[in-house]
Amino acid sequence: MLRHYLPGFLKKPFQGERVAAIAEPPSVTDAVAGSVAQSVSDPPVSERSKVEQMIQTIRPYSMVPDAGLEYLIQAVQSVMQQQIAGDFVECGVWKGGCAAAMKLTEIAIQHQSQRLLHLFDSFEGLPPVQPIDGPMARRWQQDVDSPGYFDNCTASLALVQQNFSQLGILDSTVNFYKGWFETTVPQFVQQHPERKIAILRLDGDWYESTKVCLENLYPLVSENGIIIIDDYYYWDGCAFAVHEYLGKNGLNHRIRSVHDFSSAYIIKQAYREA
Ligand SMILES: C[S@@+](CC[C@H](N)C(=O)[O-])C[C@H]1O[C@@H](n2cnc3c(N)ncnc32)[C@H](O)[C@@H]1O
Repeated sequence: MLRHYLPGFLKKPFQGERVAAIAEPPSVTDAVAGSVAQSVSDPPVSERSKVEQMIQTIRPYSMVPDAGLEYLIQAVQSVMQQQIAGDFVECGVWKGGCAAAMKLTEIAIQHQSQRLLHLFDSFEGLPPVQPIDGPMARRWQQDVDSPGYFDNCTASLALVQQNFSQLGILDSTVNFYKGWFETTVPQFVQQHPERKIAILRLDGDWYESTKVCLENLYPLVSENGIIIIDDYYYWDGCAFAVHEYLGKNGLNHRIRSVHDFSSAYIIKQAYREA
């Protein structure tokens, strides 16, 4: 997601009613300070300030808007509170901000780093746009002088490791998989078919990138696990891939929106329980 290039309608706050999620994470509580969760949608100011502090820490390393980062922090808190088994995974890491947010939130909640964090990226930027990604994506990739180009979203593995090290979270739970998703993601599943995923964060922008990650990683996501689809509203190819996957696999999941509609997420739940 290209933070500085949100079209106007995405920047506007959502005017309609917010969809209540079945297992929607409780809103920001004292995750960052580690106290008991209570509020659902209107956290006390002190709690909010902790989350804002976390977002400030992450900001240099992520292009995801604040609402998306806030949701991610809530999602980590939620899966931990609900004891949903599994690792944290991000496909599309760039400078590592979102990935760091997951690890920092986990540490803030339980004062230790335990869950495995799997980070997939070429660390060489985005692959070429395909026709299914749409004209806006094609124009974006051609406009190499645009300030929103970010060198085709390129950040090296060494840079991400350095960022993690500076944040104090480069530990043995953090795993990097350098290469194209088309190779690294199926290889990971082949080598670790037993792994469960609690949060799957998809941020690879394009159709093929989203498709390969869903096809291989969705089956590993735990029941009530969360799949965050960063580019659902922004890039056409990403939305195609999501609808195609859900349709092909006969899945009834609702697509839920982060409150400013800058990104979307799915709670993996086979059927409603109530
Ligand atoms: C928009 S950036 C990710 C932003 C990041 N999550 C953040 O917090 O700011 C997209 C990333 O996806 C990676 N990417 C996209 N498609 C890929 C693919 N097929 N294989 C490997 N990396 C890919 C790019 O290298 C880039 O780092």
